[in-house]
Amino acid sequence: MSPTRPRDTLSLPMPAHHSQNTVLAEPRALELDRADPLAHFRASFHIPRSGDILAAMGKPAPAKPDQPCVYLCGNSLGLMPKFTRSAVVQELDDWSRLGVEGHFHAKHPWYPTHEFVRDTAARLVGALPHEVVAMNSLTVNLHLMMATFYRPTQARHAIIIEDSAFPSDSYAVQSQAAHHGLNPASTIIRLKPRDGEHTLRTQDFLEALNQHAPRTALILLGGVNYLTGQVMDFASITAHARSLNIPIGWDLAHAAGNIPLHLHQWGADFACWCTYKYLNSGPGAVAGCFVHERHTANVTLPRLAGWWGNDPKTRFRMTSDFIPVATADAWSLSNPPVLALAPVRASLEIFDHATMPALRQKSEQLTAYLQELIDAIPSAATALRIITPRDPSSRGCQISLAVLDRPRELHAALSASGVVCDFREPNVIRVAPVPLYNTFHDCWRFATILKTHLASPA
Ligand SMILES: Cc1ncc(COP(=O)(O)O)c(C=O)c1O
Repeated sequence: MSPTRPRDTLSLPMPAHHSQNTVLAEPRALELDRADPLAHFRASFHIPRSGDILAAMGKPAPAKPDQPCVYLCGNSLGLMPKFTRSAVVQELDDWSRLGVEGHFHAKHPWYPTHEFVRDTAARLVGALPHEVVAMNSLTVNLHLMMATFYRPTQARHAIIIEDSAFPSDSYAVQSQAAHHGLNPASTIIRLKPRDGEHTLRTQDFLEALNQHAPRTALILLGGVNYLTGQVMDFASITAHARSLNIPIGWDLAHAAGNIPLHLHQWGADFACWCTYKYLNSGPGAVAGCFVHERHTANVTLPRLAGWWGNDPKTRFRMTSDFIPVATADAWSLSNPPVLALAPVRASLEIFDHATMPALRQKSEQLTAYLQELIDAIPSAATALRIITPRDPSSRGCQISLAVLDRPRELHAALSASGVVCDFREPNVIRVAPVPLYNTFHDCWRFATILKTHLASPA
């Protein structure tokens, strides 16, 4: 990128005095797709057809039912890689052929099955392999982490979260407080953006940490805010929390597979993420968990235990003494769900081929293009506000639109036109152009459909 070019403009040359019509021209989208070095990855995914989706919803058929939908919902559920079906069928075949012997003789032996995703998962979150484990689901893992890292005392018992934390995280921290006999209302500190702003400023955040430090026992933050798409300043916030001696954990549901992460280097105490969004591992897929190695080596930490957290060397001695393995696996409880891990393995392999730096580069370009298209729609300025940060380094591949008038109706109209994106209360439409399988043409189709509906509201 040229140092003089603002980071959220595109590398494709534009005429000196380009008009809104030029920005919204279809050939430009097609040209950007032709120049995209990652374009071939789209063929590795099943892209649902508009006709199938609308028929399943009981809605009238679209004009072109066989056309792929405009899928901008990878922030909610990523699309299915084509290889996933055979990965799952392989496990079923091995089960039918081998029965219990599949534990050691399946194509991907089941006993160590969680090992097969470890290295890729570690690369995705910037961790050492022994700092990550694939297990359970996201909220379950948050609780397992808090069982270790939330150790309230009389003086220090508060938990700091964002005011717009995902509801499950709010419920989790409130129930942790109650579980320790504390009053959730006075234990949970919710940090809000300044009046009239949608995102939290890092400086405000750090000052709030200073203010509340003497009574704080844990900080739990979304790395990428689910509503606004804001990327938090991981390095500064983590370093500040550590300087104040407050354990810090990150919910990476919207960050894993979306932005480059460096958990080990940042020094986070723990992190948890799901794999069904940007990691395309299927609905309710097995989640991931990170514990920094300064903790994995500490076998005396309090934790909730099960036999899969026991050191494999002694696991089958079948004694009653728990000997935690000195890795993140020490927090796993049960033997891994083989059928559920097969899609994770299949999907994460794609990330090793595409690589996060290349995905991030395309992601910045794709999201900037989408923003430029939305900005070029004449009626957008009065109909909606982009509440996602405009600086590419402060966002991933999501743009959140706060719709000022009849937001639900606009979302319904987009759906009826073959766009898949989601709606979050009270008025936010989230659109996520995912670099692995979305095209610049998808962004163009979205903007064209949006423009039509803004010009003639449903
Ligand atoms: C930021 C965030 N945290 C937590 C969750 C809850 O995830 P799970 O249902 O996998 O526990 C979600 C789900 O979308 C989420 O977006």
